[in-house]
Amino acid sequence: MTQISRIAVVDDELDMRQSISQWLTLSGFETEAFSSAREALAAIKSGYPGIVMTDLRMPEMDGMTLLRHLLGVDSALPVIVITGHGDVPMAVEAMRIGAYDFLEKPFDPERLSDLARKACQARGLALTNRSLRDELASGEALLRRLIGTSPAMVRLREEILDTAQSEGHVLIYGETGTGKTLVAQALHAVGPTPSGPFVRHVLGTDGGQVQCDRLFGVAGPEGALPPDSPWHQARGGTLVLEDIEAVSEETQTRLLALLKSTPADSVPRIVSVCNLTEGDGSCDDLLRPDLFHRLSAMRIDLPPLRNRGDDVLSLFTALMEDFAEDYGCPAPTVTAREAAELLQAPWPGNVRQMMNVAERAVLQARRGGGTITSLLISDSDTTTPTITPEGKPLKHYVEAFEKMLIDTTMRRHRGSIAKVMEELSLPRRTLNEKMAKYGLSRSDYL
Ligand SMILES: Nc1ncnc2c1ncn2[C@@H]1O[C@H](COP(=O)(O)OP(=O)(O)OP(=O)(O)O)[C@@H](O)[C@H]1O
Ligand SMILES: [Mg+2]
Repeated sequence: MTQISRIAVVDDELDMRQSISQWLTLSGFETEAFSSAREALAAIKSGYPGIVMTDLRMPEMDGMTLLRHLLGVDSALPVIVITGHGDVPMAVEAMRIGAYDFLEKPFDPERLSDLARKACQARGLALTNRSLRDELASGEALLRRLIGTSPAMVRLREEILDTAQSEGHVLIYGETGTGKTLVAQALHAVGPTPSGPFVRHVLGTDGGQVQCDRLFGVAGPEGALPPDSPWHQARGGTLVLEDIEAVSEETQTRLLALLKSTPADSVPRIVSVCNLTEGDGSCDDLLRPDLFHRLSAMRIDLPPLRNRGDDVLSLFTALMEDFAEDYGCPAPTVTAREAAELLQAPWPGNVRQMMNVAERAVLQARRGGGTITSLLISDSDTTTPTITPEGKPLKHYVEAFEKMLIDTTMRRHRGSIAKVMEELSLPRRTLNEKMAKYGLSRSDYL
């Protein structure tokens, strides 16, 4: 938990300010004194690592107004108000607005430090929870962006969570457009330093010494690397090396030397991304073994789209919905024929290729009365050998299509079972059974 010991003391009377501050300092707190509410407001921002003690009666802006403003800036900020003797109605009003507590003058100094200690504890807890929540929210949001419920994708999400928590460097393999960069972002967001820098650097644009200098910068006369190089900027966070397969000898030598000589806590976590295409060999052969072992403490393999089963359909409808929102039109529905086409396509360009197809489908539908004219999934524009999905029984296609239809209809009707039953002409019991069979849950649509 974050330890908090700072207290902002706001009072227009110098004597009072000084005696409160002195006592608090003696009790082990750190104080900041302000002689007016305005001064305090200028200094105290959301996330202030401390608490506030303020007098109520002050010229210009009084303590009650300060309290309101402060809670507007940060609703979890503990503010203790100090009231004059017999000012009970004021104290009650302050508590009603959201003051942490009040102290009546003249007060017992022991009670002052007791209250301060409790408020600091509450503040520490609130700040810790807030940062955990923020980190979790951004990490979870990223994981949610990775659409897919196939076993391969479920495993991938688990791997991301496991890998993110451990310390070593990570090597990501995957064909073009499989989501490698997205996964690198997710690793950072759910890892130990989500608020640290996330630096993406593409190695593939040049080679040799130039590549090395672009990554590390040119060392100065004392041998120090410049602070604005990607290597330096990623310190305390994640450095993504895109196209690691294009790494030059010079870069490898330098990287290895740095990994050996730099204290571990000054080295960013390195996520190397390898664009693997079949027949190209792999990074195991391309990198010097000693460097390879350091960079691949953890390894994540992204499955190609053609191995993700029905995810093809849920991903396609999700992508179309995104584009439909961008273009401000309803997303078209996928017919059985189109679904079969999507399920059978080899997708050599993976998710990125699918994004193009989805965007085109939305544009066609916008122009032509809400229907898709032709998906035009091309697979000729690639050097990857076309891999046809191993022959699947008809049942597989029928089920995948059925699942997609229920999924999109539930989404459209925001989980209203009655409307979905009506639209698909399904009795309630059958709908429930099918939803259970496909792992669809009504609560996901509400
Ligand atoms: N599972 C997924 N769910 C939703 N969107 C995805 C998924 N995987 C990838 N995408 C999206 O597809 C696009 C391509 O993903 P990304 O750039 O991460 O792939 P890549 O493997 O890094 O591609 P490249 O090989 O070209 O570098 C991005 O817009 C990304 O957001
Ligand atoms: Mg990428």
